[in-house]
Amino acid sequence: MARYFVWTIGCQMNKAESQRIAGYLDSAGYQAATSFSDADLVVLNTCVVRQRAENKVLGTLGLLQGLKNEHPNLQILVTGCLVNSNTQELKRRFPHVDLLFKPGDYPELIAWGQKQGMPVEQRLLRYPRNDAGIAPSPCALIPVIQGCDNFCSYCIVPYRRGREVSRPLEEIVCDVEELARQGIKEVTLLGQNVDSYGHDLPEHPDLADLLNELNSINDLVRIRFLTNHPKDISLKLIGAVASLNKVCEHLELPVQAGDNDILKAMRRGYTVERYRELVHTIRRKIPQISLSTDIIVGFPGETEEQFEHSLSLLKEMRFDVIHVAAYSSRPGTIAWREYQDNIPVEVKKERLNKIEELQAAVASKINSQLQGRQVEVLVEGTKKEKWFGRTRSNKLVFFEDAGDWLGQLAIIQIEKTSPWSLRGEVKK
Ligand code: SAH
Ligand code: SF4
Ligand code: F3S
Repeated sequence: MARYFVWTIGCQMNKAESQRIAGYLDSAGYQAATSFSDADLVVLNTCVVRQRAENKVLGTLGLLQGLKNEHPNLQILVTGCLVNSNTQELKRRFPHVDLLFKPGDYPELIAWGQKQGMPVEQRLLRYPRNDAGIAPSPCALIPVIQGCDNFCSYCIVPYRRGREVSRPLEEIVCDVEELARQGIKEVTLLGQNVDSYGHDLPEHPDLADLLNELNSINDLVRIRFLTNHPKDISLKLIGAVASLNKVCEHLELPVQAGDNDILKAMRRGYTVERYRELVHTIRRKIPQISLSTDIIVGFPGETEEQFEHSLSLLKEMRFDVIHVAAYSSRPGTIAWREYQDNIPVEVKKERLNKIEELQAAVASKINSQLQGRQVEVLVEGTKKEKWFGRTRSNKLVFFEDAGDWLGQLAIIQIEKTSPWSLRGEVKK
């Protein structure tokens, strides 16, 4: 039987799409392989958000070139954000690739598959693979809006994923109902700018409306969503998180910078003051909220003082999690055209380390408050003989127990905390 291997880097959207592609290949009669070398068909799901990700993709493409020389029948499919509109040029650069298709462009994949004798059912690509044989996860990622209309000056995403396109509300509800029937307990709704959900649909439903509908699905236990945009998140949505019992108390709210001039050059559409006010509103309405953020250091022209503004905003906001990235110039973006990438690598690294140090201390303090407390964990699987799962606030929790906890809600008494995870004992 023919075997496939899907290689994925990048964001949750890529992960969600890889799961769907794998599901499609399963239904086409392929079997999952464990590495490139025992596969007959490989799919590379790529990311180019920073140069480092792009380099990994190019390295892997090189490796596959070698494999294909040895096994000329190997089929190589490439999707994700490496694939731009100029597929002709990509085909010239990577002649060993059999099919290039844009992120989420399943019709293109299916048309190709059809030529290979695979099924033509579009619907198949609406569900993640059911992980036959492997213990399935009780959590599913659900793309609800594709693309991004924002054009932040540093960001390549809108150029690769195109304009915002929402999936019809009824279709998402129907998919989640089906997944809940199959045993899924938690869904995470995905969009580059999930707050824009629905503006392009005939009846203009919004994310809060969607959450309302999903909240009444019987067997579903938890609902999450990401990523929010500070300029778009609405009071209605904050209200929905506060009032709907299945919607978890966790928001990803990328700030990107803590200096107004940098925010302006980034074209983020808000000020530090506005962001601060927003966080206060959220914390007032949802006191148990856990917040995570993204921040970029070393944006063109970022002075020491401007960086200090970012650092002090992070100190003040006390996020549960921070994803920090060094600025990477992306050809084609506004910042690439208008500014010089003039902050030396060492300075970027130094700033990145400062933020990581600060955050380790902040998260250590926040998490230590859970010591001795009981938390509710949705168990997702095992790692090194320990069960793991997350709290509603998205904290990773490990515990040991002989029982079968997969997909169950466990009450865990926390015994040990660190900035990154918690450990405890199950209460029966
Ligand atoms: N839509 C989300 C995130 C998109 S990309 C948002 O609006 O925040 C994920 C993260 O990668 C971003 O939050 C940003 O911090 C980082 N990122 C994007 N482009 C980058 C670049 N050119 N250099 C460094 N980091 C970048
Ligand atoms: Fe990129 Fe900005 Fe869109 Fe996020 S909102 S994907 S950072 S352009
Ligand atoms: Fe990367 Fe594209 Fe996601 S560039 S972060 S895979 S949207």
